[in-house]
Amino acid sequence: MKDILEKLEERRAGARIGGGEKRIAAQHARGKLTARERIELLLDKGSFEEFDMFVEHRCVDFGMEGTKFPGDGVVTGWGTINGRTVFVFAKDFTVFGGSLSETHAQKITKIQDMAVKMRAPIIGLFDAGGARIQEGVAALGGYGEVFKRNVIASGVIPQISVIMGPCAGGDVYSPAMTDFIFMVRDTSYMFVTGPDVVKTVTNETVTAEELGGAKVHTTKSSVADGAWDNDVEALLQVRRLMDFLPSNNTEGVPEWPTDDPADRVEMSLDTLVPDNPNKPYDMKELVLKVADEGDFFEIQEAYAKNIITGFIRLEGRTVGVVANQPMVLAGVLDADASRKAARFVRFCDAFEIPILTFVDVPGFLPGTAQEYGGLIKHGAKLLYAYSEATVPLVTVITRKAFGGAYDVMASKHVGGDVNYAWPTAQIAVMGAKGAVEIIFRQDIGDAEKIAARTKQYEDRFMSPFVAAERGYIDEVIMPHSTRRRVARAFAMLRTKKAERPWRKHDNIPL
Ligand code: HXC
Repeated sequence: MKDILEKLEERRAGARIGGGEKRIAAQHARGKLTARERIELLLDKGSFEEFDMFVEHRCVDFGMEGTKFPGDGVVTGWGTINGRTVFVFAKDFTVFGGSLSETHAQKITKIQDMAVKMRAPIIGLFDAGGARIQEGVAALGGYGEVFKRNVIASGVIPQISVIMGPCAGGDVYSPAMTDFIFMVRDTSYMFVTGPDVVKTVTNETVTAEELGGAKVHTTKSSVADGAWDNDVEALLQVRRLMDFLPSNNTEGVPEWPTDDPADRVEMSLDTLVPDNPNKPYDMKELVLKVADEGDFFEIQEAYAKNIITGFIRLEGRTVGVVANQPMVLAGVLDADASRKAARFVRFCDAFEIPILTFVDVPGFLPGTAQEYGGLIKHGAKLLYAYSEATVPLVTVITRKAFGGAYDVMASKHVGGDVNYAWPTAQIAVMGAKGAVEIIFRQDIGDAEKIAARTKQYEDRFMSPFVAAERGYIDEVIMPHSTRRRVARAFAMLRTKKAERPWRKHDNIPL
């Protein structure tokens, strides 16, 4: 019996060593942790239960039958994050560069199936070169199985991808179908094909960092939702994110204890909006002052900064925040901001996370660059996302709510449940200057007349009251009481039920 137990320990030790000491040392030398070290940091101490440690590939081409590693380049299983179950797989770059074989794919699909059955989130840690080249179509088939399950799980359980090394092919396409992608700066890359293939096909010379580093994907392509400096920071932040997320689409948001009183007033908010309507202010200050303990997990912080998206808690319960940012492009809605916010709104709606919207928006961005870039279609995504949402929607207009952007930003008309405005709100088709120049065109050139017309327009429309008179705004509230008003509104809305007619699925303008 002792021999058998020792043999098991020996086999386990063989699996734990992955591609061997030399490759582990190389992994560390690149500033990266191994797959198992990463899982240790991600999950609660001692909670990881590993599956399929002894699975090996079955490839017999190119001398592969002589090169087998137990586990075959991916570590899979489940554990807990702050006591809540999550399924996890971590690519082991020390084994064939973490590339995916047929059996490696079967390990991942087993975990995907279990996560869906258990209605628990799944987290993939990626550090891998795509399909195992020696396996050919068997590897491609394996990816197809993974992709299909990504889609089946979409909107049922949260799927999180963390890119922690050079990732190519299927190891970027599978993450692309998950809810959030995070990267590690300087050690992770995402591309469909690497710099060598790019050089061969397009004759472009480009480094891995320029082609698919964290900077590119968090600021330019918007493929990634965030990035951190190293593996440890990334894994700790993913733990933090998981505390905000529900386990699935029916369980509702988690509720954590908080010492922050829901009726906390913030007198400084009464002076947040400057007297000059063209002067910017930092909308993040409002988000942080409203949030429980000022805790805000921002999504896509570095992309389309004219809109802010992320998670806060109110009374210990998760709320998604969408807010125009007057500090960047005056908070205007452009194609990038619309797409960013639309995806976030849809994530929240899919997982029953209520949405709080702070509005200070001068309209959609005019110009050929935007129109040629499909502003109509991208703007429609956000309008569509809010209009289809059935989760509780609370909206606060702090200053400008002009034109179509007023309608889009969770207005009463598209489904806002509780719509507040600060006394500084201005709800109109457009700003006074533009409006007067159109409707009193005949007076242009007469400064006195134009000034009088502008004053007349401002007095009538540059306030929340015309909208409040119609019931489009439920109440004009004091800025300092925003947290209390919003928290009470969400508490009231907990029992919200909204029905939609049956359909196979909608047809959002993609
Ligand atoms: C088999 C692979 C591999 C792969 C890497 N390795 N990629 N083995 N299949 N796809 C092995 C290497 O042979 C090497 O083995 C070890 O992993 C480390 O690789 P290096 O190249 O030394 O590392 P590095 O210089 O860091 O480069 C990493 C890399 C590069 C950028 C990922 O290896 C690379 O470009 N690989 C190929 C990427 C690719 O084109 N994949 C196919 C995509 S198609 P040793 O023994 O030396 O340790 C695909 C289809 C899916 O995925 C469908 C999508 C829709």
